[in-house]
Amino acid sequence: AQVNITHDNSRVNAVLPSGESIEVLLYGATVLSWKDRAGNERLWLSEGAKLDGSKAVRGGIPLVFPVFGTAPNHAATSKLPQHGFARNSTWEFLGSSTSESTGKSDNSVKLDFGLSQNNLSEESKKLWPYAFSLQYSVTLTSDNLATGLVVTNQGDQPFEAQVLLHTYLRVNDISKVTVTGLEDSEYVDKVAGTPNPVKQSGSITISGEVDRVYTPSKGPSEPVVVSEGGEAKYSVVRDNLEDVVVWNPWIDKANSIGDFEPKDGYKNMICVEAGAVKGWQKLEAGDAFEGAQVISV
Ligand code: BG6
Repeated sequence: AQVNITHDNSRVNAVLPSGESIEVLLYGATVLSWKDRAGNERLWLSEGAKLDGSKAVRGGIPLVFPVFGTAPNHAATSKLPQHGFARNSTWEFLGSSTSESTGKSDNSVKLDFGLSQNNLSEESKKLWPYAFSLQYSVTLTSDNLATGLVVTNQGDQPFEAQVLLHTYLRVNDISKVTVTGLEDSEYVDKVAGTPNPVKQSGSITISGEVDRVYTPSKGPSEPVVVSEGGEAKYSVVRDNLEDVVVWNPWIDKANSIGDFEPKDGYKNMICVEAGAVKGWQKLEAGDAFEGAQVISV
């Protein structure tokens, strides 16, 4: 059996011989689906998500670039919409490589996507007038999903950017979820809105709105583990992405988000977002920045 890859103008789908699959929407290069071999979904995708290019996708793995949230005090990005333009631009599918084509004996497929200044809407080009390129690769194996982003400055002016992989992980019951690996790490609490960092004591449990930007006290290769009912479900290892955002909107926030459906869907998701969002990555002309995550099951 071979890896089966199908694509049309809007989506790319890949199924491994062992049965695991992924689906990526060219709009945002958003990973919409990641299924195990029995067809069980591992990502949370809102039933109200717009998949027609009218709005960033609510769920899956949206890509945040070149600004996390909004940055009113950062002149170059201050005019951009929340989380930038990568998640609402249409990417190009650059091609795929499989274990067969690379000669490796494992069961894997890598899909490559690209976005550059040329692909942007006139509006986005005006708001952020830098010559950049993004290369995004999504690699599926039987037991993990790896996503990696390379940002290159193709122009002659330096620019500053933030990047984040805004992964919505699917869980059965948020009340049974614990997140470990961020013990003793400092975080900025966006719900409290207080600027001073707080220290995480013990593991994280969710019983209300959580929106925190962690600076993990251990290095990026120390996994952040999402467990349910005491059993490890997802393990996220980062490469060159120093920060981790943990987000669950809970009841009121989910109600206020138009495309968040069903409204009690907050019980079935947790965002664990690997990123470089605390400061800015400064890229001189010709420079590249690379960041990646591997989510293992
Ligand atoms: C998280 C932010 O990364 O994304 C939250 O920390 C935000 O503050 C959430 O609410 C969702 O953002 P959006 O733009 O997709 O509604």
